[in-house]
Amino acid sequence: MRSAKDFFRPLAVGAPEPLREIPARPSRAIHFFDPSNAKMAAKVPDMIGSVDVLLGNLEDAVKADRKEAARQGLVDIARANTWSGSQLWTRVNALDSPWGLDDLTTLVGEIGDRLDVVMVPKVQGAEDIHYVDRLLAQLEAKAGLERPILVHAILETARGVANVEEICGASPRMQGLSLGPADLAADRRMKTTRVGGGHPGYLVREDPTEGDVDGTTTPRATYQQDLWHYTIARMVDACAMHGIYPYYGPFGDITDVVACEDQFRNAFLLGCVGTWTLHPKQVAIAKRVFSPDPRDVAHARRVVTAMGDGTGAVMLDGKMEDDASLKQCLVMVELAEQLAAIDPDLKQQYDAIGQEAS
Ligand code: GLV
Ligand code: MG
Repeated sequence: MRSAKDFFRPLAVGAPEPLREIPARPSRAIHFFDPSNAKMAAKVPDMIGSVDVLLGNLEDAVKADRKEAARQGLVDIARANTWSGSQLWTRVNALDSPWGLDDLTTLVGEIGDRLDVVMVPKVQGAEDIHYVDRLLAQLEAKAGLERPILVHAILETARGVANVEEICGASPRMQGLSLGPADLAADRRMKTTRVGGGHPGYLVREDPTEGDVDGTTTPRATYQQDLWHYTIARMVDACAMHGIYPYYGPFGDITDVVACEDQFRNAFLLGCVGTWTLHPKQVAIAKRVFSPDPRDVAHARRVVTAMGDGTGAVMLDGKMEDDASLKQCLVMVELAEQLAAIDPDLKQQYDAIGQEAS
């Protein structure tokens, strides 16, 4: 057992102190790029400042014979640019792959001062986070880094889902979790072939009308259900419990912008703060969906004002507001303020609707 007092001590002599709180930095879109793909890499400098997070992906989707080129490409891109308007994250190869160790060693040594978060795929339990935690501390000490690199786990194995709370609490470095629907579906032996999103076969059906004995004679409405609801809800609770952040993962059907927006919005409403984006089209969707609607922000501000010291209850537009609805409104107002601070268009929308309402 580790004493609670030791939890915030560096795991290597000379490593930076762990953070007590994970900063709430806007991360509506985590935009994936393959640093070994020259065309994709060339677009990165222009995206800095317009996407909350740019993530150099070294894992799946990078071919085995391009792994080293991707790692070196990320080092070059990280060094050649200033990362003031966007965070720089990476997804390293899995801990059981031949590349994971070299990814961490190279990236922390070469660009650790620019790297905000390391995403670790296929995390199974707290032991994986403990391994990365100690290794990062050793590498940070060696590189003379002054701030700790944070860790983000992808929830994409059945064991990982079963251990989700202990994964979130395994280290003060834990920044958040993403849903990995493609690997998770395979690991769970789900009978799907997609990367995220719904499935037309996963549905419930309206009852048959009276007299329709075997249910086949009259049409019956069906309602598609969300395959990912259970996992996202578990992620959200585990993250909230540990003060870290949950994210939707990849939505693979780039052409279906409507279903993509629906999935992102479900995740946002359930408590996620952002999502992965695989194509510039999805960045715009993510930014829109994961920023509170100006009308909701205006309403939330009205509730905050009407509730005064926050106790008791008031009636607004025929609806009861109390301490609990006030707390929900504060979540909305705080998020709007954080986003307005980095996004002038959004600030203008929030201000304009505030003036209309007053
Ligand atoms: C992401 O990595 C996934 O497997 O969905
Ligand atoms: Mg995966």
